[in-house]
Amino acid sequence: MSLLRRRSEWMGAHAYWADWERAWRAVPVSRGLGEVCPELDARARRRDFGIGAAGGRRTDVEWLLGGKANMRLRAPRVVDLFCGAGGLSEGFRQAGCEIAAGLDIVPHFVQSFALNNPGAKAICADIREVPTESIARPGEVDVLIGGPCCQGFSTHGKRIAEDSRNFLFREMIRVARDLRPGWVLIENVKGLLYYDKGRFRQRIHEALFELGYAVDSRVLCAADFGVPQRRERVFFIATRTGVPICFPKATHGPGASRTPVTVRDAIGDLPSLGLGGGEASADYPTLPHSPYQAAMRRGSQRLTLHHARPVSQRALSIIQRIPEGHGIRYLPEADLPERFRKMRRISNGNLRRDCTTLYHRLRWEEPAYTVTCFFTNVSAGPFVHPEDDRALTRREAARLQSFLDAYSFTDRDTAKQIGNAVPPLLAKAIAEAMLGAMRGKARSCVIAAVEYPLPITV
Ligand SMILES: C[S@@+](CC[C@H](N)C(=O)[O-])C[C@H]1O[C@@H](n2cnc3c(N)ncnc32)[C@H](O)[C@@H]1O
Repeated sequence: MSLLRRRSEWMGAHAYWADWERAWRAVPVSRGLGEVCPELDARARRRDFGIGAAGGRRTDVEWLLGGKANMRLRAPRVVDLFCGAGGLSEGFRQAGCEIAAGLDIVPHFVQSFALNNPGAKAICADIREVPTESIARPGEVDVLIGGPCCQGFSTHGKRIAEDSRNFLFREMIRVARDLRPGWVLIENVKGLLYYDKGRFRQRIHEALFELGYAVDSRVLCAADFGVPQRRERVFFIATRTGVPICFPKATHGPGASRTPVTVRDAIGDLPSLGLGGGEASADYPTLPHSPYQAAMRRGSQRLTLHHARPVSQRALSIIQRIPEGHGIRYLPEADLPERFRKMRRISNGNLRRDCTTLYHRLRWEEPAYTVTCFFTNVSAGPFVHPEDDRALTRREAARLQSFLDAYSFTDRDTAKQIGNAVPPLLAKAIAEAMLGAMRGKARSCVIAAVEYPLPITV
């Protein structure tokens, strides 16, 4: 009996989909994927996923390799669920994919996605209320991508077990089940790995495995791929093609051929601003000073979104005394505002670590810290400009996220659109590793060691 049949029966063949969450919880967290599937027999482990593996019948793999021939002719088609302004899509587009559709619940986010992907279907809706056939039909999608909302997992948020947003993952799995794309990519915050003692990660692996996908997950740091930002996110890559799963190899930093892209490389060409300074749109005052700046200016004639938000007198009195690379802890305790003096201390008498990044001034010669949705607020994290006494502008944050200057954002909640996004350059590196694997060119990637479920025949 095949593994998939046995596990379906164990979970109750008919009720299984409705009950998948409950069934998942029954699996002890300590079991690795191999152990979860001890019944995976040697034949299945050795199984060759090449053409004809199913005794002359056409397998999904053949279809996709048929698709591979097709892929030589056409770009892989991508659907982006939870698309936001479209950072993840943008990376896949830059890697040569066709963005077929994007879906998000917030109208002005979907509008940004649509502005940058004019050929794609842009759907504004709650994913929980959208039947899959309104997104695409089976066979139309090669890659399903998405970064479900993550406040429930984020270490910045309140990690609430029952936070309904955590169950948006189910929707990715539902759409994968219905559309049967060759590849699935899910992005999320690193906090997900520790959520529910690691069970949540395991449940995602198993749900994809149940659908016939091989799956692996890794934490990737954006700075390793030429993004001027130390942003770490977890990525799940799943495939039912039999092609090896590849994660991109670092191109920047220790052990790689290039040095990390710094804050200066990214924003050093943007004019210094006083509080409230900057125009809605202006000429670039100089030529680009770095290859990164030149790349980011591609297709853009004017400098936009470079406007500094005012800072309160109290915040100003703090940041004026903080040098590059330091935050609130740099100041003597007596000079701290009351609310910081009251903060809990650790045993050596120092302030808790979690206030180190508040009012933090970025260093010119290093990548930035994670750009969140709160980058316009100096008191909310490491968002103080290296020289000016102000928070980052939206253009600076977009550069640190590797959005091209020509990328269009709608006016409303622009900071949220930028801070929520997967940096396009990181998404591009992932897409290129996946496409390289699909095309049998896996040179620039790290091949994951995963268990393969039996292929599903069609
Ligand atoms: C982390 S952001 C995605 C960012 C996007 N991947 C990017 O790279 O730009 C998560 C998105 O999920 C959307 N979202 C949250 N709940 C949703 C729901 N029920 N249906 C559809 N979209 C939802 C949010 O509006 C938000 O834009």
